[in-house]
Amino acid sequence: MTSKIAISNQKGGVGKTTVAINVAGALANRGHEVLLADLDPQGHATEGVGLADTYDSAKPHFGSVLETIDENRTVAEIVYSHEAFDVIPSNVDMFTLETDLTGAMRSRERLELLFDNLDHDYDFIIVDCPPSLGHLTDNALLACQNVLIPALAEGTSIRALEILYDQIESIERGYDVQITQLGLVANRVEHDGEAKEMMEWFEDTFEGQLPVWEVRKRVALKRAWNNGVSIFEHEEESDMESVFTAVATHLEGTV
Ligand SMILES: Nc1ncnc2c1ncn2[C@@H]1O[C@H](COP(=O)(O)OP(=O)(O)OP(=O)(O)O)[C@@H](O)[C@H]1O
Ligand SMILES: [Mg+2]
Repeated sequence: MTSKIAISNQKGGVGKTTVAINVAGALANRGHEVLLADLDPQGHATEGVGLADTYDSAKPHFGSVLETIDENRTVAEIVYSHEAFDVIPSNVDMFTLETDLTGAMRSRERLELLFDNLDHDYDFIIVDCPPSLGHLTDNALLACQNVLIPALAEGTSIRALEILYDQIESIERGYDVQITQLGLVANRVEHDGEAKEMMEWFEDTFEGQLPVWEVRKRVALKRAWNNGVSIFEHEEESDMESVFTAVATHLEGTV
């Protein structure tokens, strides 16, 4: 059984891609076979794992496979290997997917169909979502049915979470599925007054229901990204490895 996890929050710049790359790295570091799928047309995860060259590649690519329905095709051609895990890179053509899928047949089931056709048995598939609610994010929620939510430790996160929950509920109702929330990763936390207040709010709100992890603001995370790897493959030691390992360990036990 493959555990599939969407890393989602429609709010921009909260750390989805950072969390996706480093959770993938943590799981791989613990011996799992992992696939990271970059569903964001911006291609940040693709760049962050050193595959920027693939972003302009010709078809077939992630976007061209999602654009069509072919239940028997092989998707091996769009999977690349990275140092520690496999990657389905994003492609510049994916910017038009959101409009192309509008009104198309089974427009929210494309990613699920693609995952059904993978040749390799992965232990985990991690999907980095775009900063928007639309067909792409709906595809990720429906294909994974598990969501891990990164959020900044600031007041704006409250509304962002409410909006995301509404979307999750509407997919659950529309498709008669249950989407499991795996936890909240408070990201880029600096120990100032607002962050402290928000960490308390997260903990009070989710106590007993959802784990809340705290990823601090660390330049090591940026340096690993600039080197095309997660902090687990990067030569530099980082105190955030233990946080991402804790997330990975939790995922092993719950999905
Ligand atoms: N814990 C952290 N410490 C330092 N820098 C961070 C941290 N988390 C994220 N960043 C930086 O903040 C920026 C935004 O992070 P990231 O790209 O992961 O967010 P995102 O939610 O994926 O953004 P988008 O909504 O554009 O997809 C990036 O430049 C990233 O390197
Ligand atoms: Mg991103």
